[in-house]
Amino acid sequence: MSKCVGILTSGGDNPGLNAAIRGLGKAGIDAYNMQIIGFRDGFRGIANNRYIRLDEMSLSGILTVGGTILGTSRDKPHRMPFGDKELDMTDVIVENYHKNHLDVLVCIGGGGTQKNAFRLMKKGLNIITLPKTIDNDVAQTDVTFGFDTALGIATEAIDRLHSTAHSHHRIIVVEIMGHRAGWLALGAGIAGGADVILIPEIPYDVTKIAEAIVARRRKGKHFSIVAVAEGAMSIEESQVLRQIEENKKDSKKKDDKKNATDELKKFYENHTGNTYRLAQHLQKLTVLESRVTILGYIQRGGTPSAVDRLLATRLGSACAKLIHEGVSGVMVASHGKNSVPVPLEEVAGNRKIVPLDHEWIYTARMLETNLGD
Ligand code: F6P
Repeated sequence: MSKCVGILTSGGDNPGLNAAIRGLGKAGIDAYNMQIIGFRDGFRGIANNRYIRLDEMSLSGILTVGGTILGTSRDKPHRMPFGDKELDMTDVIVENYHKNHLDVLVCIGGGGTQKNAFRLMKKGLNIITLPKTIDNDVAQTDVTFGFDTALGIATEAIDRLHSTAHSHHRIIVVEIMGHRAGWLALGAGIAGGADVILIPEIPYDVTKIAEAIVARRRKGKHFSIVAVAEGAMSIEESQVLRQIEENKKDSKKKDDKKNATDELKKFYENHTGNTYRLAQHLQKLTVLESRVTILGYIQRGGTPSAVDRLLATRLGSACAKLIHEGVSGVMVASHGKNSVPVPLEEVAGNRKIVPLDHEWIYTARMLETNLGD
């Protein structure tokens, strides 16, 4: 009997999502005669039962297209916004899964999606996930698709900033995405030859950064490129954050937990704009003119790189094979040259940040790149 597969894409859009949908869809239809439907706009689509049938025609011509043909959202099954309310739509999703006679629901997304998919798995649904995000912070996979494309874009941006920083004898602070992980800033910083790279994993001391910039000037280099991850923070900020996180962990009462969660939210809201504050601080300490460039959504828009197309297609088609074999409750991960199923419970809730003994950190230090410490 042919299997019925539901697919959704959730979280931020990302280069390679369409390649993954196509890889899964084409392999599913051609090799295993599956019926494929795609839910619109992430978990909201299955909650509202809005879907399209994916066939040869709808899967054609999408390999190179950025974003996702299905649409996406950050809506969570258990806290879905409706006007000014949030409703728990989990039971409705379970109902729609059965109503559509699904054999499996494939959820393509980053860390948040993995957690939400795991919640649905615990409700008895057959779930498989694929790891996508430009942040590369999903646990249990070597790499996520989207990362390579964003790395290329951020690196090219740093290349271009070099000539303008050099001509004006300026510091240019370039903010790179990555959520709370430093993979993108570190990778692009090294590939683009940034002089300072700041990542969340290494809290920085602004005076040390200024000293490194002044030392470069003494050597006759009157410009500096500072690649800063959006989640990077000073030593002081990171101490405040650690305290809030500990309070949250220790709080037993519901109210205390809520207060700590609100405090955490406020902390990250205040963190926005940090790159501008850092640039001003560096200008004051070094007496070099500073400018800021925020790369933003340009990093995740547009056509996927060949590496991401290949990875997404590989993971998508491996997913079809696993479905055919009756496997579920897993994420299809990339381990070396292989696509392998890893238990979803080992992925959900675990973030992959840059280990302090990672070769990239070692490489940057060898080249005397200042890491803010
Ligand atoms: O997870 C991908 C990402 O682009 C992060 O790098 C960034 O922090 C976040 O999404 C931005 O989210 P939103 O699309 O909700 O603004």
